[in-house]
Amino acid sequence: MPLIQAQNISKNYRVGDQEVPALKGISFEIGEGAFAAFVGPSGSGKSTLLNLIGCLDHPSSGTLLVHGTDISTLSRSAAATFRGEHLGFVFQDFNLVPVLSVYENIEYPLLMVRGWSQDKRREQVNKMIAAVGMTEQANKRPDQLSGGQKQRVAVARALVGEPKLVLADEPTANLDHDTAYRVLNLMKAMRNDFGTSFIFSTHDPKIMQEAEQIFTLEDGRLNPQGVAA
Ligand SMILES: Nc1ncnc2c1ncn2[C@@H]1O[C@H](COP(=O)(O)OP(=O)(O)OP(=O)(O)O)[C@@H](O)[C@H]1O
Ligand SMILES: [Mg+2]
Repeated sequence: MPLIQAQNISKNYRVGDQEVPALKGISFEIGEGAFAAFVGPSGSGKSTLLNLIGCLDHPSSGTLLVHGTDISTLSRSAAATFRGEHLGFVFQDFNLVPVLSVYENIEYPLLMVRGWSQDKRREQVNKMIAAVGMTEQANKRPDQLSGGQKQRVAVARALVGEPKLVLADEPTANLDHDTAYRVLNLMKAMRNDFGTSFIFSTHDPKIMQEAEQIFTLEDGRLNPQGVAA
């Protein structure tokens, strides 16, 4: 079963009494274990598409299957449950909770959705902190960390619930060149070690170079020239 099957997806935003078309009928498949990127100019629809795959919004038409579930019709609460069970998110600006420590930020998704015991949570959080090399900073708050360290915490937070898929919207945009490479290599190692699939939206040539599948969006359409297996 492919991880993602998108058939003729369209998305219109309503702005006042106008409909703004952001995606204009796109179809694609992404397999399990992917390290895939959506690229294209600003406004081409990359974030819109990631938000649809992430069950943060509904397509206006078309079918979107994620791991066999038709997410285009999920209710709000069903979408929240689906996100908690199957998806992790990494954002451009890290989105850590400022008043929580590194440990608590990573533990947070487990408190939201999982009925795990405290011992199981502690074991899993410590495993992820070690995996991203942040054990020594476990008690620090985000404002005591560098950008790269913050993004490593965000990667651990995205992966702590052992999701099938992590969606990363421009995760390297606020990182310097070397730090971006380190975070990117970390994500690839996580894919290799845990089998988690990654889908990026990006303008970053480093991600394009590391991606194993690239989809190019232009003005809400997939450019068939840009689809590489
Ligand atoms: N919430 C919204 N309401 C109205 N229009 C929106 C909304 N979000 C996005 N759009 C419009 O949809 C189109 C696609 O936007 P999107 O954010 O998906 O582009 P993008 O490829 O992620 O761009 P960037 O590279 O700048 O992040 C744009 O025309 C944008 O103005
Ligand atoms: Mg975007």
